[in-house]
Amino acid sequence: MNTDQPLALLGGLTPSQFMKRHWQKKPLLVRNAIPGFVPCVGRADLVALAGEEGVESRLIVDSPKGWKMKHSPLPKRSLPPLSQKKWTFLVQGVDLHHDGVHALMQQFRFVPDARLDDVMISYATDGGGVGPHFDSYDVFLLQAHGQRRWRIGRNKDLSLQPGVPLKILRNFEAEEEFVLNPGDMLYLPPKYAHDGVAEGECMTWSMGFRAPRAGELARELLLGLADESFEGVGDDLYRDPQQAAVSSPAAIPTALAGFARQVVEKALENPQLLDSLLGEYLSEPKAHVWFDSTQAESDLSEGVQLDRRTKMMYDAKHIFINGESFKVGGRDAIVLRQLADDRGISAQKYKILSADAKEALQDWASAGWLRAC
Ligand code: SIN
Ligand code: CO
Repeated sequence: MNTDQPLALLGGLTPSQFMKRHWQKKPLLVRNAIPGFVPCVGRADLVALAGEEGVESRLIVDSPKGWKMKHSPLPKRSLPPLSQKKWTFLVQGVDLHHDGVHALMQQFRFVPDARLDDVMISYATDGGGVGPHFDSYDVFLLQAHGQRRWRIGRNKDLSLQPGVPLKILRNFEAEEEFVLNPGDMLYLPPKYAHDGVAEGECMTWSMGFRAPRAGELARELLLGLADESFEGVGDDLYRDPQQAAVSSPAAIPTALAGFARQVVEKALENPQLLDSLLGEYLSEPKAHVWFDSTQAESDLSEGVQLDRRTKMMYDAKHIFINGESFKVGGRDAIVLRQLADDRGISAQKYKILSADAKEALQDWASAGWLRAC
């Protein structure tokens, strides 16, 4: 993607300008971000998806008795009648199920794939919404159908109402308000308070991002290091020929504490291992993602295309695909990086791959991670 080309999607800003001025900093309202936007997912499609096993969805009802929330699966019969006001249901990861939604998400790849999470689609009846709240992640809220009134503000007080099944701000104070029409879009940085209320029937697509939490990342990487550490640090036993006799037996020997620190430092000494664990973690498919594997040999000579569910990334030394890492260099690295960036390669590019790389692609085709063009 040319990051210096102005985009209607960003209200005439280039991706570079958007990232500099707005990303993680301040909201952006874009009128007509996608002119003539015709959503490829209708209410019936969304209802069907919400009822499927393994699809994450929520039903939120703003009733006279307060907020109510139900989690997936949400079969059609569990939804209130369409004539009832003030309810909404939200379906996560619709990009995993619809090519059109996945294609739209590609327009946001001026942000690294490692940060892009999923497309959530909500349907609401008149007055429906999830209440005033904040999200921890960046989000682009695209109005797909009908109208929604957004009120947004930089609430300093992020405390939540107690005893409510969802996160509702205790003291929401809106600073700005706008009604979005189909094709309009609102970008919000993390922790920016917002409340979107449907004006009549409405559907909203949320392009959501993810950011690894420090503790979660540390746990993942350290667990990975622990699995690998037998190779790295060996299975040496702690030895203490110099240990003197002790009169305080409960005290942990300083030398043992030093040994512990030393083995952890040794395990961390291998930056390549850390990089490959990070890539494997970031390219891990989402829960409930199943690929359609095949026994048949694929003819990939006309070029290949990644499956929409496949996550493929790279760093200077590795290619990562669906949680697996491969050390690559030379021409293979150039072509496979292109496959990750463009989510496909042409016949010409396929042809110049080494026999080993072609074999890997064949394996990935059998696993259902990619297919022939
Ligand atoms: C929605 O109701 O579609 C948007 C949810 C949100 O505000 O994050
Ligand atoms: Co939100």
